[in-house]
Amino acid sequence: MAMVCLSDFEAYAKKYLPKIAWDFFAAGADDCSTRDENILAYKRIRFRPRMLRDVSMMDIRTKLLGTEISFPVGIAPTGFHQLAWPDGEKSTARAAKAMSTCYIASTYSTCTLEEISAAAPGGLRWFQLYIHRNRAVSQQLVQRAEALGFQALVLTADLPYTGKRRDDVRNGFRLPPHMKLKNLEGAFEVCKMSLLDPSVTWNDIYWLRSLTQLPIVIKGILTKEDAELAVRHGVQGIIVSNHGGRQLDGGLATIDALVEVVEAVQGRVEVYLDGGIRKGSDVLKALALGAKCVFIGRPALWGLAYKGEEGLQDVLRILQDEFRLSMALAG
Ligand code: FNR
Repeated sequence: MAMVCLSDFEAYAKKYLPKIAWDFFAAGADDCSTRDENILAYKRIRFRPRMLRDVSMMDIRTKLLGTEISFPVGIAPTGFHQLAWPDGEKSTARAAKAMSTCYIASTYSTCTLEEISAAAPGGLRWFQLYIHRNRAVSQQLVQRAEALGFQALVLTADLPYTGKRRDDVRNGFRLPPHMKLKNLEGAFEVCKMSLLDPSVTWNDIYWLRSLTQLPIVIKGILTKEDAELAVRHGVQGIIVSNHGGRQLDGGLATIDALVEVVEAVQGRVEVYLDGGIRKGSDVLKALALGAKCVFIGRPALWGLAYKGEEGLQDVLRILQDEFRLSMALAG
């Protein structure tokens, strides 16, 4: 089967992944209205293309907090990559490096931060953090990531509790026994998902700041009010995100929330977006509305499910080609 667009990878993953893994990747909260809206919203946005503008040479590189990437699409943090491919996050790291882009590794990786670093030395990696009730766990993770050369800390703000994903409840979803949340093993074995700290507030940004020199990016912002608070609390970047529609159902599509966040921020920090990016023209729409870069969640998992790091590279390459073409055709 020729893999022409990201939907082809989605169809492949749906067909070949075990149902319980597919359902976990695909899940949105409640009746999935926000998950689906993330995608539908792109279809309502239309270009006003300009003509005769010499598009024979185009530069699609950009910089994330000062580090160059080959095009403005990175890999959003998602958990449990071994559900998609045996090498898990090691393959993700290699694909991101091969494509010269940024990979945000999740707290809930099935490989350790050390394994991820060793798999793709020198690649651009950020570390996504969930703050645990036992702060020593989070502190240790942050300091490990910094020592391993991860270049930013991404604090996910939209998961005080896990959203209600009906299929996961129906399936009794849990990791198969041979897979582990490797970063939380050993001394911290007792501190698993249920021990996420729902009492986290903006003040905890100061606590994080006291632990690390790394830039802090906050993920899960959807309003101008929170964007302003994020800037005031000294973060270096904002990811406009609704967790792929897996948390609060009924919220805005991220592409619709982007505009007010960009307006509030006024260029003081970098603004990125994730959610519903499925085509190169979606990337162009997000950039045109003020995002510096976008990140893909599920499409990266579909790429892994297809052929590990090669499959993920295919996904990124298709998005890159489509983005370049859209830019040219839009003038
Ligand atoms: C996620 N997401 C996520 N976010 C995060 O900060 N930490 C995590 O561990 C996870 N895990 C996770 C697992 C799976 C299976 C999915 C689908 C998503 C959210 C993710 O970073 C991102 O916000 C969305 O996936 C973006 O939407 P798309 O690209 O999947 O539409």
